[in-house]
Amino acid sequence: MSITRREFLRRSSIAAAAAVMVPQHSRRPPAPMARPTLDPSSLAPFVDPLPIPNVLQSKQFRPSSDNPAIQLPYYRMAMRQFESKVHRDVKPTRFWGFELSFPGPIIESQSGKGIFVEWANELPTSHFLPIDHNIHGAEADKPEVRAVVHLHGAKTLPENDGYPEDWYVPGKSAVYYYPNDQDAALLWYHDHTLGINRLNVYAGLIGLFVIRDPAEGGLNLPQGKYEVPLVLCDRFFDLEGQLYYPVSQYPKLPWVPEVFGNAILVNGKLLPHLEVEPRKYRLRVLNGANGRFFHLTLSNGQSFHQIGTDQGLLPAPVILKNLSLAPAERADLIVDFSDHAGERIVLMNDSVSPVMQFRVARGKVTDTSSLPSSLRSITRIAESEATKTRTLTLGEIDDLRGDTVTMLLNNAHWNMPVTENPTLNSVEIWNLMNVTEDAHPIHLHLVRFQVLDRRPFDAFAYQNEGGLLRYRGAPVPPEPNEMGWKDTVRADPGMITRIIIPFQGYAGRYVWHCHILEHEDNEMMRPYEVVTPKHGQEKGSA
Ligand code: C2O
Ligand code: CU
Ligand code: CU
Repeated sequence: MSITRREFLRRSSIAAAAAVMVPQHSRRPPAPMARPTLDPSSLAPFVDPLPIPNVLQSKQFRPSSDNPAIQLPYYRMAMRQFESKVHRDVKPTRFWGFELSFPGPIIESQSGKGIFVEWANELPTSHFLPIDHNIHGAEADKPEVRAVVHLHGAKTLPENDGYPEDWYVPGKSAVYYYPNDQDAALLWYHDHTLGINRLNVYAGLIGLFVIRDPAEGGLNLPQGKYEVPLVLCDRFFDLEGQLYYPVSQYPKLPWVPEVFGNAILVNGKLLPHLEVEPRKYRLRVLNGANGRFFHLTLSNGQSFHQIGTDQGLLPAPVILKNLSLAPAERADLIVDFSDHAGERIVLMNDSVSPVMQFRVARGKVTDTSSLPSSLRSITRIAESEATKTRTLTLGEIDDLRGDTVTMLLNNAHWNMPVTENPTLNSVEIWNLMNVTEDAHPIHLHLVRFQVLDRRPFDAFAYQNEGGLLRYRGAPVPPEPNEMGWKDTVRADPGMITRIIIPFQGYAGRYVWHCHILEHEDNEMMRPYEVVTPKHGQEKGSA
């Protein structure tokens, strides 16, 4: 009966579907945990040192396709199953990761210098997490184990972007070219397979990719061992130390709309510690969670500076005591421990959950690094440069019980024809109209964008009075730490979040989606196509 119900909703007209689309928290009651889960507060905190992922070395070179006289680094990343200890007192956990590491090794690259990466699927042939075969792209006739890797934040050709349908099975691999023709930034790679992305990422298929450039290099920021990557994500573990992914109470429909694990991992460890010197550190933080939003503070109440966001440096440092980070967002931070010699400072989430501990050494050190008062100039794009404005709803469809069935962008499913087709080198404004009661982090592949504002509106009137747009207040400007180039933006409930996007790079098929992976897998992802201007049709005439 459940499949028919879903199919019924899927096939019903958009108007009929919209009638049951009411603003509410997405839900499908999770079943009682099938296995008892580990309570992290029962573990001894801060006993393990924070692991720092290795920087991957390239062992080969390959000629550049543009200029065969130039040899470019060639890296190989094998996705494999392995075991790793998340805590001293927890049994080894099975993960799927890159190069036997979770998170995977770091790729370091230079802006303007291309590299090749071979992403090899060497995973087992059966999955260990619960696949929902009702989810589009994960039907029972598909191989269970499939993978395809996307470099989040990268400007790449479509064939190297990890399109969700470009998945391949164990024993196969894909060689992607990354031109790195973009500013210094912290990017990250992760699986993007249609219909099982949430499970592959939960299993461990994530890692960091750094792009550096001379402008950033000239700022004298803390570097070397004073620059520390922090990959945050949450999971559930069972009492045997194995990953546990929740399922709904409907055995044939295991998909759940959100997963908020009770165990927060930093670089793959639970409650680790890091020995630091009393000086400045640069922390490069990724929210790599499936669905959790982090709200980070330091236990001694000290403030810190954010110097960069998703697509690199901010114009100037922003002082913060509390950092909010949506899934897939990155924050580049400077934390100064110089006044805290001898202290033990805990990084907290939501003010109550410890995440990791900094142990500041005693004594004095000389710190020659800087925190410049201006970082780089970022020209705000004038709204008048946009040749097109699209209003796109973020919605969800619930069944008559009120359970969430699917999540949609502009009421369209993944396999419906492309509707967003910006012209290469044009500028567009996208109004992300959130009619749900959840915040959705919206990400576009290929491009970087700026946040214009967020404005509250009456979502109920919009849906029940035939698209009536009634604002409920004035537009709210972006937060100071959103004034850089972004690739993921938090679209708050009941708000229209406006972003302005220059479509630069390449023409072709990409995707845009919610980065809550449970939503993305269940239809909250759409293809979009950058088209080349037709002859005689230039910017301004589209
Ligand atoms: Cu972080 Cu479409 O990805
Ligand atoms: Cu991406
Ligand atoms: Cu979402």
